[in-house]
Amino acid sequence: MFFSRVRSTTTATFSSMKRGFSSSAASESNRISISFVAKSAVVCGVAGVGLAAIVPDDAFSGLMPKGAEAFNLIENGMHAPHQDWDHKPWNKTFDHQSIRRGYQVYREVCAACHSMSLVSWRNLVGVSHTEAEVKEMAAEYEYEDGPDDQGNMFKRPGKLSDRFPAAYPNEEAARAANGGAYPPDLSCIVKARHGEEDYIFALLLGYTEPPAGISIREGLHFNRYFPGGAISMARSLYDEVVDYEDGTPNNASQLAKDVTTFLTWASYPEHDERKKLGMKAIALSATLFVLSIWYKRFKWAPIKTRQIVYKPPQVRDV
Ligand code: HEC
Repeated sequence: MFFSRVRSTTTATFSSMKRGFSSSAASESNRISISFVAKSAVVCGVAGVGLAAIVPDDAFSGLMPKGAEAFNLIENGMHAPHQDWDHKPWNKTFDHQSIRRGYQVYREVCAACHSMSLVSWRNLVGVSHTEAEVKEMAAEYEYEDGPDDQGNMFKRPGKLSDRFPAAYPNEEAARAANGGAYPPDLSCIVKARHGEEDYIFALLLGYTEPPAGISIREGLHFNRYFPGGAISMARSLYDEVVDYEDGTPNNASQLAKDVTTFLTWASYPEHDERKKLGMKAIALSATLFVLSIWYKRFKWAPIKTRQIVYKPPQVRDV
């Protein structure tokens, strides 16, 4: 609208200079656009009806949801209820005290079976523990290092740069100890599961007796949030299995919340920084956007406020 007005006034100026004002130029261009839109609409309509007649009804059925089979509790597990996580609102960081308690739950309970091979001790520094604390925690574990001058491997206490120690030396050992099931590495587990932290939280507390008519194989446990319903991991979080140093109540749901917050941090360690950076970026670009509007109006002011006057050529009597 705006541009067409500029263009038509410009055309008018030029043409008035050359051969007088032509008022029909603008209405002619409108007529051409209207007829183009009308023709396109007719062509698209005819093509649509034609395609609908030619293409078989089930041509795209592979892309469509499959009606009643789409969701099946036994195959997919129950949908995890949404929890009110502290870190979910756009302007909130992780609850770092919860990460600290969650690390304790992981270390005292989950680490017996699950590794977190992508997390190093140094990652905890400034997030949940001080450097001195982490150094002390790492030094409690022995790591193989070497070779030394004689070519022998040796053991040394852990350092900040070491990864978290694994629960088992290899996958086979882990399977052998867990009835054939492999306890997955928890470094990125929150990213790796549908429902993310809501799923992990629900899974840890979702153990019940199997419903009537469903029998669970020996060694498996019924958990309605686990796809298939039968999980090899037994329930591991009960009230008071971990003693918190900060006096937070240690019931099972608090333990589950804290360990899930810790695992979410492990999956998204950049979370806090990302939100801070995002807010800066939005503030900056919003300011630049407003400035650019002001600048555009400033630059266009002489053009938008000018008045074009048409002076008819003088007709001279010859
Ligand atoms: C006794 C060993 C053991 C302990 C302790 C244990 N797990 Fe597991 N966990 C397993 C095994 C085995 C599996 C694999 C289950 C399967 O595939 O049936 C598993 C699977 C999982 C899964 C993946 C479920 C899925 O969707 O595939 C998560 C998440 C998990 N455990 C979290 C935890 C957390 C958090 C803790 C600590 C609170 C913990 N586990 C403690 C053995 C354990």
